[in-house]
Amino acid sequence: MKILVIGNGAREDALSWRLAQSPSCSALYAAPGNAGTAARGTNWNIAATDGKALVARALEEKIDLAVIGPETAIAAGVADRFREARIPVFGPNRSAGRLESSKVFAKRFMERHGIPTARAKVVHSLASARKALGDWSGSCVVKADGLAAGKGVVVAPDAASALTTVQDWYGPGGIPGGGSDVLLEECLHGRELSVFALSDGKAFMPIVAACDYKRAGDGDTGPNTGGMGAYSPPLGFPVDVLRTVEERILGPVARGLAAEGERYVGVLYCGLMWTARGPCVIEFNVRFGDPETQVIMPRVRGDLAASLASAARGALDPGAANFDGDSCVGVVLATVDYPRASTPLQGLCADVALDDGRVAFWGASTIRDGSVTASGGRVLTVTAVGADVANARERAYGAVGELAGRIGKGLPLTYRTDIAAPQEV
Ligand code: AMP
Ligand code: GLY
Repeated sequence: MKILVIGNGAREDALSWRLAQSPSCSALYAAPGNAGTAARGTNWNIAATDGKALVARALEEKIDLAVIGPETAIAAGVADRFREARIPVFGPNRSAGRLESSKVFAKRFMERHGIPTARAKVVHSLASARKALGDWSGSCVVKADGLAAGKGVVVAPDAASALTTVQDWYGPGGIPGGGSDVLLEECLHGRELSVFALSDGKAFMPIVAACDYKRAGDGDTGPNTGGMGAYSPPLGFPVDVLRTVEERILGPVARGLAAEGERYVGVLYCGLMWTARGPCVIEFNVRFGDPETQVIMPRVRGDLAASLASAARGALDPGAANFDGDSCVGVVLATVDYPRASTPLQGLCADVALDDGRVAFWGASTIRDGSVTASGGRVLTVTAVGADVANARERAYGAVGELAGRIGKGLPLTYRTDIAAPQEV
């Protein structure tokens, strides 16, 4: 198969890396790709959201399977375009993609189908928010309805502070993501976990779980980010996590989608809080996670390309690949101003090759004449597998030490030092 990966982050580099090694992959392309995917195959200079241009080029090159990375491409209807052109595509249509692109849609969907989630009120104006917060007790999670690139959630300690956020959002600055609706949500307590499931349009098969570190600083301090590191499998959760999530969440999701006439093909990422009552959905994402994908891909055994292609064709082959290889830890190297800003870095050394079950994946970046320009923000995810999480962690941080010096001494890069640390797990 000739396979196209759509997107340009470290998630897409990790997908490209694993897909290019699949026995059923004959050629790998990425659009627009990055400095890493350029070495795994061929980059096309086409934006991830430009469905028309992507399909035209895919037809020209006789692509057999397209794999969509980012939510922005799904929300732009890129999967719909590929399906119209009869090119197998791994990723849901825009309509089913509302599970991520609209938090109000997702909340209503979960309420309609009895899926465990935090109670929430939807408000459409400052006046209705003030009314809803009038008799609110305890902390309150304020969420913007639309895609807001990680800036649309504020966990407020009380109603007064929640109201300050809502006032800002209904003021001149506007609501992150540009929508008009806001959710006021009960605050859940427990430990967070990401569970991934593949779907061929009929059923959801849970494949793997991972833990992500969202805050910028050690000890979960500082602002929320896209994710500063991850590890898999998660430690300290019940052994039957995947089965519990399948019964309580994925089954009702599949039945709910079918009842509403939605055909979901792709991966569903369940962002969960494991509460005293079991798993509760914080959010759905309609794509792989970043940086979770960077620690999931090194754990894949078998033929990932055959697995994703079988889902795209409507009959998932559960035996084509499994996701329970050795433990993996990934540490993100980011520019020091992330997430406040993302200053581009030039002149980075392109050679980030590592040996012995350790791999580094580039974030958004371009390469020319052996020199890399990174867009800034999350520059590199450095991963290592190991016999257990502790061993993988030690090896991943060893690799971080090697690479931080190699890719450009003195560059303003930073990373968390407590990814998968024992006190965290
Ligand atoms: P999201 O952008 O939806 O992933 O939310 C960002 C982060 O906010 C999550 O990873 C959680 O840490 C936190 N969060 C979101 N919703 C809730 C909730 N209902 N209760 C507690 N924490 C939440
Ligand atoms: N790691 C969080 C996300 O991909 O949304």
